[in-house]
Amino acid sequence: MNSPALIFFASFLCHVAIAGRTCPKPDDLPFAIVVPLKSFYDPGEQITYSCRPGYVSRGGMRRFTCPLSGIWPMNTLKCLPRVCPFAGLLENGAVRYTTFEYPNMISFACNPGFYLNGTRSAQCTEEGRWSQELPVCAPVTCPPPPVPKFAKLSVFKPSAGNNSFYRDTAVFECLPQHAMFGNDTITCMAHGNWSELPECREVKCPFPSRPDNGFVNYPAKQALYYKDKATYGCHDTFVLDGPTEVECGKLGKWSAQPSCKASCKLSVKKATVLFQGEKVKLQERFKNGMLHGEKVSFFCKNKEKKCSYTEDAQCIDGTIEIPKCFKEHSSFAFWKTDASDVKPCESDS
Ligand SMILES: *[C@@H]1O[C@H](CO)[C@@H](O)[C@H](O)[C@H]1NC(C)=O
Ligand SMILES: *[C@@H]1O[C@H](CO)[C@@H](O)[C@H](O)[C@H]1NC(C)=O
Ligand SMILES: *[C@@H]1O[C@H](CO)[C@@H](O)[C@H](O)[C@H]1NC(C)=O
Ligand SMILES: *[C@@H]1O[C@H](CO)[C@@H](O)[C@H](O)[C@H]1NC(C)=O
Repeated sequence: MNSPALIFFASFLCHVAIAGRTCPKPDDLPFAIVVPLKSFYDPGEQITYSCRPGYVSRGGMRRFTCPLSGIWPMNTLKCLPRVCPFAGLLENGAVRYTTFEYPNMISFACNPGFYLNGTRSAQCTEEGRWSQELPVCAPVTCPPPPVPKFAKLSVFKPSAGNNSFYRDTAVFECLPQHAMFGNDTITCMAHGNWSELPECREVKCPFPSRPDNGFVNYPAKQALYYKDKATYGCHDTFVLDGPTEVECGKLGKWSAQPSCKASCKLSVKKATVLFQGEKVKLQERFKNGMLHGEKVSFFCKNKEKKCSYTEDAQCIDGTIEIPKCFKEHSSFAFWKTDASDVKPCESDS
């Protein structure tokens, strides 16, 4: 070994003996920073751990000196996120959050009928304060309702000064001679506007025509409008088929078109029939004929079974069909039993 090399080796040993080993790069600690940060440190060099902004430790910062052993002492420092003040309640709304810790966000939403006055979301800052002032949920209001043409407000009371709150309603009615299309009631909606307005339109009905064998009365006016009325009647022995009063409807048509129907003359001279559940003598009960629509049941005989059954007959506009099974007896045939006096057949026959 030549002397320069020996000198070098000796000085190396000497250095290690005096200075000890170097310390390695210190361990990473969550949310902490190390100053100064190097890949190795000479014994005696100092480092400082401190928490990153937004994080705090109980004991504050920690200082360490690189020992001769070259092994950093145990570090028990813990950096915890700052916690912002509780913000979990929002009247008439809701707060969405995971935690109130730095650097989390919280967000806000209002119930239907309320709107957010303020921020939609906020973040917990490094200082442990919310980045935005917390919002409030303010009630939605609708302006005074617009009144459709040819309409007027019939029920309305503003509840918020001149305005209305969510779900308040207003009711319209049309001016005379006008009919409403749409809902008469509008509602203040969650967006602060009113639901769809109804429409009022002028509606005319044609003059009603006089029915044959009858008459019709209506107001003496230039024209007939929505809700106007007409009344019908019939001449003697005729019957009104339909209501006596009709009304002009919103589609410009009368509610009905009554007509006069003729009564029926009876060809049968003598018969006992059922009328409204009772046995009556046809020729007495319907001396003046049967009115349109009236119905009787004739008795017929079942010769094999020696029993009687009934068949219906109705007067329809002057015509009545007598059941074929009905046999009229001559008034001289006193020995014959009338069908109405024969025992009824079993109902299942
Ligand atoms: C919104 O809130 C602010 C402050 O909280 C208030 O001054 C303002 O009047 C509110 N605006 C509405 C439209 O309610
Ligand atoms: C309501 O409206 C009237 C007339 O437009 C106005 O004079 C009044 O100040 C309003 N009231 C409120 C509370 O806004
Ligand atoms: C009219 O609107 C009211 C309130 O919005 C509702 O309750 C009602 O059912 C509606 N009527 C019709 C006929 O649509
Ligand atoms: C009310 O406003 C909302 C939102 O702007 C809109 O979608 C809706 O169609 C409006 N309704 C009416 C009846 O104007």
